[in-house]
Amino acid sequence: MAKPATPSFACTACGALHRKWVGRCEGCGAWNTLHEEVPLSAGPAGRTLAARGRSVALSALTDAEAPPPRVPTGLAEVDRVLGGGLVPASAILLGGDPGIGKSTLLLQTAAHLARGGLSTIYISGEEAAAQVRMRAARLGLADAPVRLGAETALRDILTTLDAERPGLAVIDSIQTLWSDQVEAAPGSVAQVRAAAHELVSFAKRRGVAVVLVGHVTKDGQIAGPRVVEHMVDTVLYFEGERGHPFRILRSVKNRFGPADEIGVFEMTGGGLAEVANPSALFLSERDRPAPGSAVLAGMEGTRPVLTEIQALVAPAPFGTPRRTVVGLDAGRVATVLAVLEARCAVPFAGLDVFLNVAGGMKVGEPAADLAVAAALLSAREDRAIPPEMVFFGEVSLSGALRPVGQTENRLKEARKLGFTAAALPAGSRLAAAEGMALHEMPDLAALAGGMFGAG
Ligand code: TYD
Ligand code: MG
Repeated sequence: MAKPATPSFACTACGALHRKWVGRCEGCGAWNTLHEEVPLSAGPAGRTLAARGRSVALSALTDAEAPPPRVPTGLAEVDRVLGGGLVPASAILLGGDPGIGKSTLLLQTAAHLARGGLSTIYISGEEAAAQVRMRAARLGLADAPVRLGAETALRDILTTLDAERPGLAVIDSIQTLWSDQVEAAPGSVAQVRAAAHELVSFAKRRGVAVVLVGHVTKDGQIAGPRVVEHMVDTVLYFEGERGHPFRILRSVKNRFGPADEIGVFEMTGGGLAEVANPSALFLSERDRPAPGSAVLAGMEGTRPVLTEIQALVAPAPFGTPRRTVVGLDAGRVATVLAVLEARCAVPFAGLDVFLNVAGGMKVGEPAADLAVAAALLSAREDRAIPPEMVFFGEVSLSGALRPVGQTENRLKEARKLGFTAAALPAGSRLAAAEGMALHEMPDLAALAGGMFGAG
């Protein structure tokens, strides 16, 4: 006898399943994101399945597979993040906050591909075709042979794509789609999963590259893009701060190319403009050398990127001092503060600390530690760092500085942008660093003691 289905609760943020409702998801720690899911019916008992399936074609490990062919999009920054262009029959997820520019980016990309001869369909579930057309006109893309559809019914979308068999189908957004096979509201975990699953298997089966747009959701009522991350080949996120024009396209997973690669854009009145030299852009807002500003010679994927780390340290008026961190890993910043206190005798008790990456950039690599420490020391002592200096290096709990990868690339980029000095961990393996005065430091105490002097 079939067991009655047990109720289950799915987290709209990460998709984790729970037997009981709880206030906080055990998978990702988000609050209030659990919603009841109707489980899919189990169908006939498992043992009968073996008799009903068909044999799968098996192959040897040595069977050679050609590298996936690529269709260049015509946008160098998009190609870089994809790993050289669009892979036919692949499934891509593009996540990002609402209003960050996902639709704009995809319309531009689709238009470029369509002009290049790829048959392209753009399905909008959020905007009417007229709205998309107006945007295309504003972007100067009205002549591109992209075909538009405004639809949310998954069945109709699949029927259309099956009849048309385009090279690329953009689905904007996965959260608006609705499958009549699933008894749940559009935007629920079950609907989003079912729609993504259908579209991804359609992509593989019919050789259509599919891009799914997923809004990052804050309120937990609607399933977020993380719910479908594991189903697709490539996961891209479009990031940026509302008040800043810079936008970063970041690959966090890529079956066909490097992950962690970034593409940089600027949102202008005429759409997204590619930024070929992001370092120059991120440093362009820097005026005269101010205390608390340190330049990080960072790496984003294979590309060196210089960014300005800004710190402000001020007496805390009362109680627990504030630690406000934007664009950096708060855990790493706390570690750097603790090491400065414990190993370098630089106390921050009773002081509010604010840290920020200029331009709305997000920096995750441990190599930022040394620049963070330099910005903090500079802010605390109210002494500006020499403007020609860059920093990179990982701080360990003992206070020692650990060398990081890509030292030469970091220095070369810094040199290119007019910097002539670098503070870095001692023992960094260096073949050549022409035109750069190197201050190699064994530990953070050396930075604190030297305070950006000759060192
Ligand atoms: P949009 O692509 O609609 O964002 P998403 O699809 O991620 O929700 O972008 C919306 C924002 O971009 C909107 O605030 C206006 C701005 N924008 C420009 O600044 N310039 C432009 O040319 C376009 C088309 C949009
Ligand atoms: Mg949109």
